[in-house]
Amino acid sequence: MFKTRLTELLGVEHPIIGGAMAYLSTAELAAAVSNAGGFGLIAGVTCTRDELREQIRACRSLTDKPFGVNIALIHRDPDKINQDIDVVVEERVKFVETTALSPEPYVKLLKEAGITVLHKCATVRHAESAERAGVDAVTLVGYEAAGHTGLDDLPLSIMIPLAVDSLKIPVIAAGGVGDGRAFVSALALGASGVQIGTRLMASHECPASVTFKDWLLQTQATDTIYVERSLNRAYRVRRNEAAEKVLQLEKKGITMAELLPFIGGDRLRKVLFEDDVEAGVVPCGQVAGLIDEVMSVNEIIDRIISQAQDIVGRLHSS
Ligand SMILES: Cc1cc2nc3c(=O)[nH]c(=O)nc-3n(C[C@H](O)[C@H](O)[C@H](O)COP(=O)(O)O)c2cc1C
Repeated sequence: MFKTRLTELLGVEHPIIGGAMAYLSTAELAAAVSNAGGFGLIAGVTCTRDELREQIRACRSLTDKPFGVNIALIHRDPDKINQDIDVVVEERVKFVETTALSPEPYVKLLKEAGITVLHKCATVRHAESAERAGVDAVTLVGYEAAGHTGLDDLPLSIMIPLAVDSLKIPVIAAGGVGDGRAFVSALALGASGVQIGTRLMASHECPASVTFKDWLLQTQATDTIYVERSLNRAYRVRRNEAAEKVLQLEKKGITMAELLPFIGGDRLRKVLFEDDVEAGVVPCGQVAGLIDEVMSVNEIIDRIISQAQDIVGRLHSS
């Protein structure tokens, strides 16, 4: 029922992308999204070269449906980007989502390898430059979303209409989608599909601990905050002790290097897998306030689509 330019581009049934989530978007989660008719992404950012290769091969063994790899264009370690690109080319991955910095230096190489390139960014300006660079579709991250959302602070209700008026390529809405209501509204705004992250954390296939998932279910819509504002970035995370500590340090003028220990690696793993939900900063979207059940990925996607069909039917008949 929801055939769009995105379902055509990706060759999938539903215009729903499972957003890549550091440590969580493993082969199992990505394959579950693809098997449910959506489009799964493996998070490259937290994989070594060999791990990424293994994850791609594992995903292929779990699904014969299309899936992709998310490559973070961050220059903390410049070799990492080239390493991820080498692996996706060698493994003949068909779809890549780039994110963060401009995809321009990499698009030609990826396209020459026959890869369809999606780019994720948080402002319409960046989406326009990604289109000029030759990407096939662009995902816009709204103010509502988990993780880095850019400094424009625009909700999807404003950003998606601006983007579709300006771009020719398909636009995907990321942020705040957990059910059929937000899915329909994204399509109504002109998006060709949605990307969901936070909703998938409360799935059986998400490898996070039961403690973490219980904490997520208790999260209210008002329980997320921004950190990194003092560093000219905006990172939406779940309020916890680590996030409060980061805010205090930011008031005193923390540098990015001083902040790093709080926002990645070991501390994030403690939050996600080791039952210590206060230990580190963890991305979380406002949609957490609407999530009250852990389900299979298949149930999550089925419910979004069937609720969306009901809404569209009701709108037709009213
Ligand atoms: C725990 C977590 C980790 C994330 N890690 C990444 C990442 O490594 N790369 C990335 O591009 N996006 C990352 N995201 C963002 C998601 O891919 C997705 O765009 C976002 O969650 C969509 O907003 P929503 O959470 O409101 O659905 C992460 C999100 C979460 C919740």
